[in-house]
Amino acid sequence: MRSELSHNGENHALPINISDHLRREQLRHPEATGALSSILADLSRVAKEISYLVNTAGINGAYGSTGKINVQGESVIKLDEQANRQFKDILSNNPYVAGFASEEEMTFVPFAPDSRSKYVLWFDPLDGSSNFDTNVSIGSIFSIYQRVSDARGSVNESDFLQAGRAQVCSGYFLYGTSTMLVYTTGHGVYGFTLDPSVGEFVLPQDYAKIMMPESARTYSVNEAYRPLWSPRMVAFIDWLKTRNDDPCGARYVGSLVADFHRNLLKGGIFLYPQDEKHPSGKLRLNCELNPLAYIVEQAGGLATDGENNILDIQPSSLHQRSPVLIGSKNEVLSYMG
Ligand code: AHG
Ligand code: MN
Ligand code: MN
Repeated sequence: MRSELSHNGENHALPINISDHLRREQLRHPEATGALSSILADLSRVAKEISYLVNTAGINGAYGSTGKINVQGESVIKLDEQANRQFKDILSNNPYVAGFASEEEMTFVPFAPDSRSKYVLWFDPLDGSSNFDTNVSIGSIFSIYQRVSDARGSVNESDFLQAGRAQVCSGYFLYGTSTMLVYTTGHGVYGFTLDPSVGEFVLPQDYAKIMMPESARTYSVNEAYRPLWSPRMVAFIDWLKTRNDDPCGARYVGSLVADFHRNLLKGGIFLYPQDEKHPSGKLRLNCELNPLAYIVEQAGGLATDGENNILDIQPSSLHQRSPVLIGSKNEVLSYMG
């Protein structure tokens, strides 16, 4: 926290901006080369662009669908495509990035080989896109891995099929009532807010080293699928809302980032279980669950597919889905029994 004397001599603490923060973190970790800081700085540029597109969509005719269906079998809205392009354009100019994979791309995308390119990224460029046209919070999710292929050549699929435990950084941008960046590199969770008056991400004091409440106050699940759930899931949700000591309330936005963020700050559990129609749930392991699982664990919470810690699952395909329970530790452990 910097401090500054105002004109009347009072001492005002100024929240630090993301460049200062990244510089400070780099000094604190002498092994750091500056590559991750450079990627995070670029990601924050991407998010500023997307945030602007989100904020002005209503007046620029940017709502609506492209009429295409993506590799997930889901309808692609205009902003899905634009957001994906922003990530791609900005990252392709970063010398430390060897390539990326995205929810919106059929397969991974290699960048031109460069001996400095030791990282690859996964991202969901726009999460919660079905909420976009109605001005409900949406987000972007990202994850950074060290590549496992030889840095002299091009990336290959093994770079993008690493267990979440191997992540070196993950985070998300939330385009809500304010735009936020929440990220971790394994040294705690930081939450920045975009200050629109200066166009910079700043770190309010309360959002350094975020720890989540150990117990949930709310549960987040699409309860319309209840008739398709397993008896175990039905019993668990019933227990959450009727337990004597502290019954949970229900909150479900339908944008994973928004639901996750509320639970992170207030205590809660988000569930997207398997059911009769979705044998592996809906959410994508590599671009949605692993990044959030890394954050939740750094904040003292847990993420599981019901049997395995999400971070320990070895992915076998790029767009693999997984059931998930993620959030406050006590409730996730209660489900596990
Ligand atoms: P995306 O917009 O990236 O395709 O993700 C949508 C996801 C996630 O954000 C949300 O939690 C979930 O879909 C909601 O699914 P249901 O409508 O089945 O509840
Ligand atoms: Mn998503
Ligand atoms: Mn998406």
